[in-house]
Amino acid sequence: MTIRYDGRVAVITGAGNGLGRSHALLLASRGAKVVVNDLGGSVEGRGGSHSAADAVVREIQAAGGEAVANYDSVTTPEGGKAIIQSAYDAFGKVDILINNAGNNIQNSFRKMSVADFLAVVDVHLMGAVYCTQAAWQGMLDQQYGRIVMTTSAAGLFGGHGLGNYAAAKIALVGLMNTLKLEGRNRGITVNCIAPMATTRMSQEAMDDKTGPLLQPEFVSAVVALLCAEDHTGSGDIISAGAGYYSKIGILEGAGVCLGTEQAPTPDALAARWGEICDLSQAQPFDDAFSSVAHSMRKVLRGLKG
Ligand code: NAI
Repeated sequence: MTIRYDGRVAVITGAGNGLGRSHALLLASRGAKVVVNDLGGSVEGRGGSHSAADAVVREIQAAGGEAVANYDSVTTPEGGKAIIQSAYDAFGKVDILINNAGNNIQNSFRKMSVADFLAVVDVHLMGAVYCTQAAWQGMLDQQYGRIVMTTSAAGLFGGHGLGNYAAAKIALVGLMNTLKLEGRNRGITVNCIAPMATTRMSQEAMDDKTGPLLQPEFVSAVVALLCAEDHTGSGDIISAGAGYYSKIGILEGAGVCLGTEQAPTPDALAARWGEICDLSQAQPFDDAFSSVAHSMRKVLRGLKG
């Protein structure tokens, strides 16, 4: 079986460099018509130029594929609408949306300005919100969509000096977890990748040994799978880099019930802290309701006992 995207239209934000460029080239090489969006600014997200998006469009066309460029910033509702509209104008619809555009302004939390915090949240989180919302109704109408959000190990596990970036990246997981429910039974899947790749954004953090192994193409392979028609899995967070692929989960431990007659003292909680924090029997939940219902079943079982 060969996964292809003939007849499919893909919008990829921030596709003028790094990972987005690689995703665009791969999907186009397998038949997708692609909107290559890129503001063309610096790693911090400042400035702008058409050259990054144009170069990727030329590469796709030279290889026999179909692509158009879009230079709007993802950071406004109007920008999100214009990016999606450029897919409608050129190709008539949007089947695949890869929210990939990203910037990075690092500083310790103590020194980070609110402006720099918001400048990163605006691209990673709100950029994904604006583009996804602009594409969402069309996907509902056609009962088909493949959406990939780009989260990060920094958001999932933390990273020094990355408070703005980490907050925005983990928020994408929350957005995915809701959209996976709202898109369910309507042909729309929503997944996250947590990539590792040597790009202009990450190169300073790379070492000589692993840096050359972390080519963006390894990440694009799994992004392409998540965008495939026959891949109906939704709500997954997939870590990918240099040939390594794994699922990252949000799990809840088995927990303890300490009685319902009166709230426990902090001391009583301290005495059971090891059990409360034990993840050895942790399990995932499909939605908030399932998690809460599971805990309440345990509480009610305790009352009966
Ligand atoms: P990159 O800097 O090579 O590419 C990011 C692209 O986004 C650039 O071309 C930039 O012009 C574009 N962009 C920035 N602000 C934009 C805006 N407002 N509107 C439209 N385009 C905009 O960096 P890379 O590494 O390819 O990053 C791609 C995504 O992967 C980002 O979301 C990043 O946070 C994420 N990521 C990357 C990791 C890595 O190891 N390279 C690790 C974890 C996450």
